[in-house]
Amino acid sequence: MFRIAPSILSADFACLGDEVRNVVASGADWIHFDVMDNHYVPNLTIGPLVCEAIRPHTTVPIDVHLMVRPVDRIIPDFAKAGADLISFHPEASEHIDRSLGVIRDVGCQAGLVFNPATPLHYLDHVLDKLDLVLLMSVNPGFGGQKFIPETLNKLRLARAKLDDYAQRSGRRILLQIDGGVKIDNIAEIAHAGADTFVAGSSVFGAASASDPHRYDSVIAALRGQLGQVAQ
Ligand code: DX5
Ligand code: ZN
Repeated sequence: MFRIAPSILSADFACLGDEVRNVVASGADWIHFDVMDNHYVPNLTIGPLVCEAIRPHTTVPIDVHLMVRPVDRIIPDFAKAGADLISFHPEASEHIDRSLGVIRDVGCQAGLVFNPATPLHYLDHVLDKLDLVLLMSVNPGFGGQKFIPETLNKLRLARAKLDDYAQRSGRRILLQIDGGVKIDNIAEIAHAGADTFVAGSSVFGAASASDPHRYDSVIAALRGQLGQVAQ
């Protein structure tokens, strides 16, 4: 019912394969993969080569969050590198419908990402082409920022739109949240309508470098909080 997607942005990049294996062994459902280009966002991270490098370390879905402009050119590279889902920001694409089509054409699931101040109306004419809606609860670019509370209102609006769509179409689109998700706010976020949770610093901050089980307790605690929420 709920998915936890640790963001490897906060992992130890010097041993990323181990980090991916350990966090999945600790109960991660997806691996969230943050791609930044120092253009659309003021930070530079990882690309298809790194996606390809971690792919053999896990069978769970790799959830690629593109914070790059332009969008279309790089999509097939991520599909070849083993991505399962690819999401992008509407402001970063000249032709949103086309970019969604490119993602579907290369065999991946498609997501649209909303910055804190980006209105949800971008959804209205592309729902049939979406598998995932991602609401940013921080401004994109960095891990470790504070959850913006207004996102809870936006989540409720998005939940209503997606529930309405599910009733009409019989198709369920996932509603993901990204930024500042922690043990002490995940239940409230789930209650507002999210079903898929990115967590970077709160998961990978739980360190004691050489222990392969160091993520067990934080993921169990996140799931424990979710267990109290009925959807
Ligand atoms: C921010 C990224 C997030 C980030 C979340 O632009 O999209 O995925 O890693 O990190 P935390 O969970 O630390 O806010
Ligand atoms: Zn992200």
